Amino acid sequence: MRQFLSTLLIVALGVTLTACDRGESGQPDTELPDRQAPIPNPDADSGLPRIQPRPLEQIPEGAFGDKVKRGYQLFVNTQELRGKYVGNALNCVHCHMDAGRRANAAPLWAAYFAYPAYRKKNDKVNSFAERVQGCFTYSTNGAPPPADSPEMIAIAAYAYWLAMGGLMDHFGINGEVPEISDTDLVTGAKREDFPLPVDIARALPVDQRDKLPGRGYPKLDKPARDYSPEKGAEVYTAHCMACHGPDGQGYEAAGVHNLPPLWGKDSYNWGAGMHRVNTAAAFIHENMPLGKGIQLTPQQAWDVAAYINSRERPQDPRFEGDVEALRKRYHNHPGYYGKAVDGKVLGENAFPDFKQMQQEN
Ligand code: HEC
Ligand code: HEC
Repeated sequence: MRQFLSTLLIVALGVTLTACDRGESGQPDTELPDRQAPIPNPDADSGLPRIQPRPLEQIPEGAFGDKVKRGYQLFVNTQELRGKYVGNALNCVHCHMDAGRRANAAPLWAAYFAYPAYRKKNDKVNSFAERVQGCFTYSTNGAPPPADSPEMIAIAAYAYWLAMGGLMDHFGINGEVPEISDTDLVTGAKREDFPLPVDIARALPVDQRDKLPGRGYPKLDKPARDYSPEKGAEVYTAHCMACHGPDGQGYEAAGVHNLPPLWGKDSYNWGAGMHRVNTAAAFIHENMPLGKGIQLTPQQAWDVAAYINSRERPQDPRFEGDVEALRKRYHNHPGYYGKAVDGKVLGENAFPDFKQMQQEN
């Protein structure tokens, strides 16, 4: 295992170096090799089960059901953890729609079966809990709950219940989702020793578990011309502003943002997956404007993704004082960190990340 990992590490380093070289050569941004590959959107015709998670009313009574319910609550109202683990105005559900249940919006049930897995972003094998920690650190601009915290166990229990209930229904296995240990819950299901009913284990060998149809976002065609924030501003005004506001800050009432901010101090930070133009374009094309997905052209989705991601937002938590150094190290992908827009280098005036917020208090 260790040898396997160090080989991966060397390969990953190799990729980084080539990526940096090529990044300097001025090729269009859409062509940039990505150091951290976006999560795949598996082939819908692969024959693997298309899961329909159970309705939330079916969450069972009792201690295990209570964990699942708690996970659901934290997922849709992550603001409960504001100041402790969360530093912006976002809830998980703002990006993982329909409480993490919707296919093609990076659903929790597909993610649960895809970990543990190697991630280039932090160069190691990540458990499910570690992957969730990534979204706390970057997407909610926070400090992640520990893997053995009640909050993390609850989120994992919710993800497991969604995935397992859907799979059991698919394979005609009746009854409640079996309870498993907290350690099993936070590790994730992509491993030989994960407790699974025999029928499911047989139909879903370990190497197929990260390929459930509906995972991630559908691949989006490259734009016909290079994407442009200026064009994106027009798309924004026409299709997004009504909900996300003239200044991208969304709308809140009584301290609750039911319409989330897209940039600025309360949005995801410069390290989040959504700040990448390609990732945001794929999400937006499939899921926005809310209730009217797949209506923008791919070009419009790329342009508006470029627009919202070329405004300032909270600092990348990996920042050590030098925007250019960080850009070279971590931002060799379609994005605006470290680049000049309207005469200002993005990242130079970034809003505080969670660490900085705590130092300032
Ligand atoms: C600003 C949007 C945003 C928010 C808020 C957010 N996420 Fe994510 N999340 C993403 C994106 C984008 C990805 C996929 C990244 C990629 O493709 O590189 C992702 C990926 C994930 C994955 C892995 C999915 C997979 O199939 O591998 C999990 C699990 C996850 N998020 C959980 C959470 C949890 C739990 C929260 C709340 C604490 C949360 N996310 C908040 C945008 C967000
Ligand atoms: C009808 C209202 C509405 C419109 C129009 C709309 N959105 Fe959204 N958007 C939402 C809501 C609500 C969410 C949170 C999703 C949820 O809770 O289900 C969201 C979430 C998002 C997110 C992820 C969360 C975040 O804050 O980063 C992005 C990015 C986004 N929208 C971009 C866009 C873009 C770009 C457009 C225009 C093409 C657009 N939206 C149009 C209502 C809207």
